[in-house]
Amino acid sequence: MTMQTPPPATPLIPETAPFSAEQRAWLNGFFAGLLSLDPGATPAPPGAVSLPAQQAAGDDGEAPWHDPAMALEERMKLAEGRPLRRRMMAAMAQQDCGQCGYNCQDYSDAIAEQAEPRLNLCVPGGKATARMLKTLVEEMGGGVLDPDEQAAKEAAKLPKSDDDRPGRSRENPVDAVFVCKRRLNAPASEKVTNHVEIDLSASGLDYEVGDSLGVYAANAPALVDQIIATINVPPDFPIADKPLRDVLIEDTALAPAPDTLFELISYLTGGERRQKARALAKGDDPDGDAETLDVLAALQKFPGIHPDPEAFIESLEPLQPRLYSISSSPKAEPGRVCLTVDAVRYTIANRQREGVASTFLDGRIAPGARLKVYVQKAHGFALPADAATPIIMVGPGTGVAPFRAFLQERRATTAPGPAWLFFGHQRRATDFFYEDELADLQGAGTLTKLSLAWSRDGEKKVYVQDKMREEAAELFTWLERGAHFYVCGDAQRMAKDVETALVDIIALCGKASPADAQAYVAALRKCGRYQTDVY
Ligand SMILES: Cc1cc2nc3c(=O)[nH]c(=O)nc-3n(C[C@H](O)[C@H](O)[C@H](O)COP(=O)(O)OP(=O)(O)OC[C@H]3O[C@@H](n4cnc5c(N)ncnc54)[C@H](O)[C@@H]3O)c2cc1C
Ligand SMILES: NC(=O)c1ccc[n+]([C@@H]2O[C@H](COP(=O)([O-])OP(=O)(O)OC[C@H]3O[C@@H](n4cnc5c(N)ncnc54)[C@H](OP(=O)(O)O)[C@@H]3O)[C@@H](O)[C@H]2O)c1
Repeated sequence: MTMQTPPPATPLIPETAPFSAEQRAWLNGFFAGLLSLDPGATPAPPGAVSLPAQQAAGDDGEAPWHDPAMALEERMKLAEGRPLRRRMMAAMAQQDCGQCGYNCQDYSDAIAEQAEPRLNLCVPGGKATARMLKTLVEEMGGGVLDPDEQAAKEAAKLPKSDDDRPGRSRENPVDAVFVCKRRLNAPASEKVTNHVEIDLSASGLDYEVGDSLGVYAANAPALVDQIIATINVPPDFPIADKPLRDVLIEDTALAPAPDTLFELISYLTGGERRQKARALAKGDDPDGDAETLDVLAALQKFPGIHPDPEAFIESLEPLQPRLYSISSSPKAEPGRVCLTVDAVRYTIANRQREGVASTFLDGRIAPGARLKVYVQKAHGFALPADAATPIIMVGPGTGVAPFRAFLQERRATTAPGPAWLFFGHQRRATDFFYEDELADLQGAGTLTKLSLAWSRDGEKKVYVQDKMREEAAELFTWLERGAHFYVCGDAQRMAKDVETALVDIIALCGKASPADAQAYVAALRKCGRYQTDVY
């Protein structure tokens, strides 16, 4: 006779959670079992950092600042009085986006353990996060250990990623071949979003739907040439045997201008200009333009500065890879990976600024050329194990990317589970990505329902969450039938608004109080039925 784990005295799964009595009893037992193995602890994710007992004690509970929509000041306020590593975590952008090669907590733990000296890896947090980390590391007494000690620490306990095989981490990219790109918007659109195809066959790299691809891009040569002309140095000046121009194109970040560049400028000028450069290096904004200063604009703000080329390169940050949600299934497109990339372009002070990687993929790489890539494994963003489970996917704009992959996978495996996609963008006539493919998937029965939200077609903006509210009763029925709920795209506003709509729908259709509706969503999240891929 088998004996079931008894449910804990205080049930861990709320009565309002979206489970049958039997499922609730099993989950209560499951979580109780987990917790009883190590009272007070939650299971550590792979690659998690083990902390000294005195650091971990009593402070591994809630991280109330873990909300990507919360401002840095508010996050730091919530973390006041907590140990340094927790305040370091609060300084991160809270997206758990994986661009740094960790999640927010593991990155902060690694810095606190002095095993990670790089304080500039949090891409969405940008300079504000890097500055806050610098302050906290100074509070700790410095983050740089003796190099031997550091190497020993790194080797002993802090793998930079779960997997050190080629192509599995930002530290170890492989060569792939750029095949082609195709614009997904009609010519009249305000957007340029490309479907990008990359050949992985020679690399041997594989992936699963839900994963992201890390791409190493190169800066625009025209921008680099302007920088070289501004500092007035020869483009072929050797920097460790590589011409300066190539170093600027391939290895350095040219936006935003780092604090260290302003420090360098402050040494090369005097008087009021020196005070301004010093203020900018400290994060102050003497002229109200600090946010707009990329490397070129910073040099132009202090005309006549001619830094030594080596010192100039040293003052810049390394160019980081960019992540893109994979929009193909290897079962549908073997040896190939597809991305859905919005080209970032905007104008400041009459100069067009270009996002590095998105415009590299939009035109600076030719079909057949090689590029360095790696697969960033998804942690908790995947199709349900049971192919019959219904899925609800909310992905406006480029957020549709992983859902194209999910649908391709479900079609290739003839999965019987119903699928509902909420897609939205500016205008139906110009921004309906993958329209034909989605119609085809509907025809094949893979995509059961498609709800569309066009934000600029009418007088009033219509967003995906408005369509969810319109279809509240049916959406709630899907949830009650066990559907998994997915969100991909903008972390700052959209994902938050979608969650609010979901809570409202559950409260309305489940006749629940707001607190119970929130508990329902929390329970969905806890058991892996609410998954996000947001950036
Ligand atoms: C897990 C994950 C998945 C992602 N998936 C996708 C995806 O599927 N598709 C996709 O397109 N992107 C995706 N992204 C975002 C992507 O990684 C890049 O951040 C994006 O392409 C911009 O990179 P870039 O190098 O082109 O621009 P960057 O050189 O990084 O420049 C972007 C920066 O420019 C500034 N900026 C942008 N617009 C403006 C403006 N209007 N005014 C002033 N400043 C501005 C902001 O500081 C912004 O951070 C994903 C990110 C993550 C973390
Ligand atoms: N955190 C970030 O830095 C961040 C986040 C997301 C995307 N991006 C970048 O922005 C670029 C474009 O993103 P994208 O192509 O995915 O499209 P997008 O510009 O995010 O817009 C997609 C659709 O979402 C609508 N939208 C705006 N606010 C919303 C909200 N609060 N709730 C629901 N929908 C909302 C937009 O409407 P309107 O525009 O008409 O209002 C549009 O119809 C990419 O380069 C991406 O990397 C950056």
